Amino acid sequence: MATIRPKRASDLDACVALVHSAHASDGWPPLFPADVARFITPPYERSAWVAVADDGTIVGHVALHEVGDDALGDAIVDAAGCTRDQLAVLARLVTSHRVRGAGLGSRLLDTACAAALAEGCRAALDVAHVNAAAVEFYEHRDGWTRASSVLLTLPDGRSKDAWIYLGPEPGHPGGR
Ligand SMILES: CC(C)(COP(=O)(O)OP(=O)(O)OC[C@H]1O[C@@H](n2cnc3c(N)ncnc32)[C@H](O)[C@@H]1OP(=O)(O)O)[C@@H](O)C(=O)NCCC(=O)NCCS
Repeated sequence: MATIRPKRASDLDACVALVHSAHASDGWPPLFPADVARFITPPYERSAWVAVADDGTIVGHVALHEVGDDALGDAIVDAAGCTRDQLAVLARLVTSHRVRGAGLGSRLLDTACAAALAEGCRAALDVAHVNAAAVEFYEHRDGWTRASSVLLTLPDGRSKDAWIYLGPEPGHPGGR
């Protein structure tokens, strides 16, 4: 079983490889970033975790990001009905194909969600409508609800429709 631990700077190359692999097999992210290292570890990352298989291979990643002062941040704030500092964006959730369907994606989601709750924050995320497998995944996660839809502009000027999902609230059933 994979072990989940905080991401280290030395994990960067393996995390970049994970993004390349997910793009090839799942079309995620939909617009391949020009700078993959910055995509997987952006300046607005608050914290991040990796999953490490028994052989030392990194097979999963998840992060918490600051709520940006942008369309996504506005949509999350509107959906949750609270302030930016009471929220965290759960992002960059990805697992390697070799471990799919074994519960690792759920464990990574729970790890980041629990860390947000421990800071008194509610986790929220966005997922593109076209990413049907990920939408299906989030639909079945305990404590998560689909709240709204937002039209987001990609760096190349194209736009995508994304669902906003909200995690459990601090101090409520399903939360801490
Ligand atoms: C979404 C993702 C992280 C799920 O990871 P995982 O390790 O397979 O997660 P789990 O093993 O916990 O799977 C949980 C559920 O999702 C289902 N599932 C996972 N991947 C699936 C897929 N590609 N197609 C259909 N169902 C899938 C599992 O069968 C399981 O079903 P359940 O809800 O009945 O328990 C993984 O598919 C992935 O990395 N996708 C590419 C990146 C991506 O789209 N990330 C989300 C960005 S918003």
